[in-house]
Amino acid sequence: MKKFTSVSDVKNLQEIIKKALHIKADPLTETEKGKGKTIGLVFLNSSLRTRLSSQIAAQNLGLNVLTLNAAQEAWNLEFADGAVMNGDTVEHIKDAIEVLNQYCDIIAVRCFAGMKSKEDDVNESILSQFEKHAKVPVVSLESATRHPLQSLADCITITENWKKVHKPKVVLTWAPHIKPIAHAVGNSFAEWMQEMDVELVITNPEGYDLDKNFTKDVKVIHDQEEALKDADFIYVKNWSSFDDYAAMPEVKGDWMLTNEKLAHTNDAKVMHCLPVRRNVELSDEVMDGDHSIIYQQAKNRIFSAQAVFSEILNELN
Ligand code: CP
Repeated sequence: MKKFTSVSDVKNLQEIIKKALHIKADPLTETEKGKGKTIGLVFLNSSLRTRLSSQIAAQNLGLNVLTLNAAQEAWNLEFADGAVMNGDTVEHIKDAIEVLNQYCDIIAVRCFAGMKSKEDDVNESILSQFEKHAKVPVVSLESATRHPLQSLADCITITENWKKVHKPKVVLTWAPHIKPIAHAVGNSFAEWMQEMDVELVITNPEGYDLDKNFTKDVKVIHDQEEALKDADFIYVKNWSSFDDYAAMPEVKGDWMLTNEKLAHTNDAKVMHCLPVRRNVELSDEVMDGDHSIIYQQAKNRIFSAQAVFSEILNELN
């Protein structure tokens, strides 16, 4: 694997899921693999799971880990090409990446959608600079449009929890939130599930359809109750409007998942990438109930990252 920014970087999804499950069974089988090599984890945005799971994964592989909380600790970055930097920005992203090239064998970066310019976000204005200027493999720790390490962890979690013969029905459901949230997790989940042997359904209120470039021909149902019927897995996530970019059109009805709604499913397992706003996105009773596999999903972030870093090290060694 030469880079990891989307599902298209994975040659064989079932193979990498199998690899991650082997790593989970015995995480310390490749402790020499990254010896003498360095991964830079660059966070332009906040993180708990991605930061810590990536650090654990890299350490399990013997990699040196540099973590830069760039938004808080680095110089104020300039992203515009040709900018006259006579304002608040101190270092151009191009120069920062060239320097990271001198220190790192792998550069991993988190760069969320700015949610101001649809064009900038859809075109991955920051990740694309890393892809352009990095001379070492680039790993996405969540970008404007995708969260591939999360999606791989989601695939691992579904695989672990599905032993029946029929295809599971997986429902990606929109959930309420108090502010506009980016589309990366929803887009990415839709993209990866289309590579899995599942029946995927998306449910969201009118005005909240995700970008068709990610959902393609997946059925979108605007009636949550209908969509949840007979679900085997429910993936809960908020996102803002894509068409009316970053807006929050008025929503009719109550979209928060409750035990009452779960009663109409096929004893569905409930997933969420976290962090979650309890009793806004997801009720306490579901979060803390028997249906939730959310902490298992968070644990699998380690094995998702470790499988990906290990594949990248295969190219470097
Ligand atoms: N799910 C996830 O990416 O969590 P963090 O934002 O805390 O890294």
